[in-house]
Amino acid sequence: MPPMFASSHLTGNKAEQYDQLAEQARGLLHGERDRIANAANLSALVFHSLPDLNWVGFYFWDGDELVVGPFQGQPACVRIALGRGVCGTAAVTRKTQRVADVDAFPGHIPCDSASRSELVVPLFLGASLIGVFDFDSPVRDRFDEDDQHGLETLAGLFLASLA
Ligand code: SME
Repeated sequence: MPPMFASSHLTGNKAEQYDQLAEQARGLLHGERDRIANAANLSALVFHSLPDLNWVGFYFWDGDELVVGPFQGQPACVRIALGRGVCGTAAVTRKTQRVADVDAFPGHIPCDSASRSELVVPLFLGASLIGVFDFDSPVRDRFDEDDQHGLETLAGLFLASLA
């Protein structure tokens, strides 16, 4: 019997692949509201489904700082202050940060020295900061607009799963 939630091969163009990934994410999160469980499974799904990623995971707002949550990849920095790094900038600006070259981003916090580009989606439920969903790649300029849209959709599915 195949495993229940094995990430399956994605086909078609990028938008179609993200549609398939979103469908898998819906199945994975369905009926579960636990934040840690859903963050862990979503990180694993994305990490094992998309190419050229070396870190996929969550930082959660603890009321004071962003604190690392479930992720896939190398061990990471634990706490990030609001406004610091790509993650802290996404949380403060409430806008996805798509960074083609992390070395050119002022204040980038290097956790895995292999990371060359990064995309961070802020997570808000209404006005409340929940945290950020962070994607790192060893390839420069890894993330385009389609990636941003697809990854923002997955972030939205995560937020919806908590409600
Ligand atoms: N590079 C991030 C820190 C988190 S790691 O990439 C996992 C930043 O600048 O906020």
